[in-house]
Amino acid sequence: MTHTHTPPDRQAILRWLVSDDPQEVAALWRLADLTRQCFVGDPVHLRGLVEVSNRCERNCLYCGIRADNRQLQRYLMLSDEILACAHKAVQVGFGTLVLQAGEDSAIEGQWVADIVRQVKEETDLAITLSLGERPDQDYQLWHAAGADRYLLRFETGNRELFDRIHPPLAGQSCDRLSILARLREIGYEVGSGVMVGIPGQSYDSLADDIDRFRTLDLDMIGVGPYIPHPDTPLASIGNRWALPPGEQVVNSVEMGYRVIALARLVCPQANIPSTTAFATLDGPVGRELGLQRGANIVMPNLTPQKYRRMYEIYPAKAASTEDAEQSCAAALRQIRALGRTVGTGRGDSPNLQKSI
Ligand code: 5AD
Repeated sequence: MTHTHTPPDRQAILRWLVSDDPQEVAALWRLADLTRQCFVGDPVHLRGLVEVSNRCERNCLYCGIRADNRQLQRYLMLSDEILACAHKAVQVGFGTLVLQAGEDSAIEGQWVADIVRQVKEETDLAITLSLGERPDQDYQLWHAAGADRYLLRFETGNRELFDRIHPPLAGQSCDRLSILARLREIGYEVGSGVMVGIPGQSYDSLADDIDRFRTLDLDMIGVGPYIPHPDTPLASIGNRWALPPGEQVVNSVEMGYRVIALARLVCPQANIPSTTAFATLDGPVGRELGLQRGANIVMPNLTPQKYRRMYEIYPAKAASTEDAEQSCAAALRQIRALGRTVGTGRGDSPNLQKSI
């Protein structure tokens, strides 16, 4: 069955993105769901997300935890607290632990490596790191310590727009695409993705980005609509940067689902989460729609309650007060109600296995 799948080319991607024909859009949802079913099946894998620190040295114009946002109290979890989250993940039946944080050079590479090693010693969890741009030696150290996967969104492949919303650190330039290639070389399962509807992002450039998912041969793809955060510069200058209507990508949930669906078509074997941004904008139904339009992964938040409200990359980020057990039970109910099954084991990307 798999060989009958013909992924859309760049032109077809663009057509789907801008289509205003409800029947065409409905056909996209159906095709994405079918493709998901053929290539990764019905299991929905659960990843436990731990937001390890909201300290950040960067000043991304869109992000609520940017360095210049003085409204925020900053935290760094203790290694014992992170370990406790890992055991919680095992207890509720997850196969993967995702450790995410802002970029903070005060977080030592070795400290992270020791945590990774300890989680690996004490559990069978797969470990995904999402710790931003780091020196190459840290990526190597963490992989050697047992980290399996790395997530780094390239946000937009439009170089000029990227530089505008993501100012480089003094004296450094950054090229996330080459970091992604390097992560693959080191041996990580590699994930990336974009925000949908960044002011200044055109449909043309978004079509390029989706096409790039294919050339990067991504194992994991995370996307979500851009959500303006009032304590960030982009929230106020966004209107000025927006392209003329028709060119500017709208930052709607629906456009987000289109990108999930197209990501599934171009990378049929990738692991694609129904991200928190959808649950934030669309409530519980947001997560369900993502799962019905190409996604096969859910990432319940395991961050201790006292830290959660401080990790506000965008406002009202799934302002859930549910604890790990509750959010896990809710996810399980939802998955079963959709007629899907709950994934067991680590849920490695079949995309990676094909290349070994
Ligand atoms: N709206 C939507 N997504 C955001 N992210 C950061 N800030 C925002 C925002 N305001 C996303 C980025 C980043 C990921 C961790 O969260 O894509 O890579």
